[in-house]
Amino acid sequence: LERESLVAFDAADDADSLEEVRVRYLGAKKGALKDVQKQMGSIDPSDRKAAGMRLNEFKSKIQSVFEASQDRLGGGGEAGVDPTFDPSLPGIRPNLGHIHPITQTVNHLMEIMGRMGFEAAEGPEVEDPWHNFVALNIPEDHPARDPLDNFYLATASANSDRSVEGEQLLRSQTSTVQIRVMENRKPPIRVISLGRVYRPDDPDATHFPMFHQMEGLYVDEHVTMANLKTVLRVFATNYLGGDVQIRFRPSFFPFTEPSVEVDFLWNGNWIEFGGAGMVDPAVFEAVGYDPEKVSGFAFGLGVERLCMRRHGITDIRDLYSGDLRFLRQF
Ligand code: PHE
Repeated sequence: LERESLVAFDAADDADSLEEVRVRYLGAKKGALKDVQKQMGSIDPSDRKAAGMRLNEFKSKIQSVFEASQDRLGGGGEAGVDPTFDPSLPGIRPNLGHIHPITQTVNHLMEIMGRMGFEAAEGPEVEDPWHNFVALNIPEDHPARDPLDNFYLATASANSDRSVEGEQLLRSQTSTVQIRVMENRKPPIRVISLGRVYRPDDPDATHFPMFHQMEGLYVDEHVTMANLKTVLRVFATNYLGGDVQIRFRPSFFPFTEPSVEVDFLWNGNWIEFGGAGMVDPAVFEAVGYDPEKVSGFAFGLGVERLCMRRHGITDIRDLYSGDLRFLRQF
């Protein structure tokens, strides 16, 4: 064993293999030396003293061989430590990433609406005209379907087929998810959908060609506009803080009737955050619901707008600039 171990220590040619050899012979638990030590008990008592001395001799020899190998490999101190390493120098702090402010907002909105019993639903960002328009009561000749106002996929030529089976586009609103949910489920329904939408707007302080919406849909028997107003007011109070007042202004959307613009009174100003209304009977018919039996409300709020108001952000482009000096503040 002695000879074998001396050869092994000599053969170690880097810190890793030296460490392996050290564990093999000097390891506190399974090292060969430990094995020998364990056998001491079974030695005849009259021989035990001599054997113990021999073992100690072996131990110190092997220990010094180990240290010699360490010196030879330049380890000096602890095995595997770079001798040029200066532990007194200040460390380099690793760059930790964190969650983007819009993702934080999405999570926060989901949590607030979740407490009111709304569960999250999702839909694809590349949509067909049925879900983005037709089922939402937006007919073929409606200006909202204009190629100048939508990102049709490259396979779609400007004046090609814009019918139900027509060309795909990047969804321009999360109202598409209302249709997808109702097509697959029966009332009662209480969902929100938070996701990206796309419109070919020139970027400025308040516009960006990609932004996020929070869509809400509540369908049951006897749902009223008062329910809509209460849900939105409770939501705004939770997200923006304080007792936020809410105002509805008459508006028009093809998929709601009546339709309203939603304003919140915040820091003394009435600010528009999105649109809402009672689900249009034509939409219920498109998904196979009986408009005589169920009623519902829907709303769509701008996520960036909510996030920007809450955090005092004045330019939407900052959110998507990737500038860490900006992003690190959240
Ligand atoms: N989809 C509408 C928009 O993008 C908002 C909306 C959603 C209005 C739901 C009414 C109901 O402007």
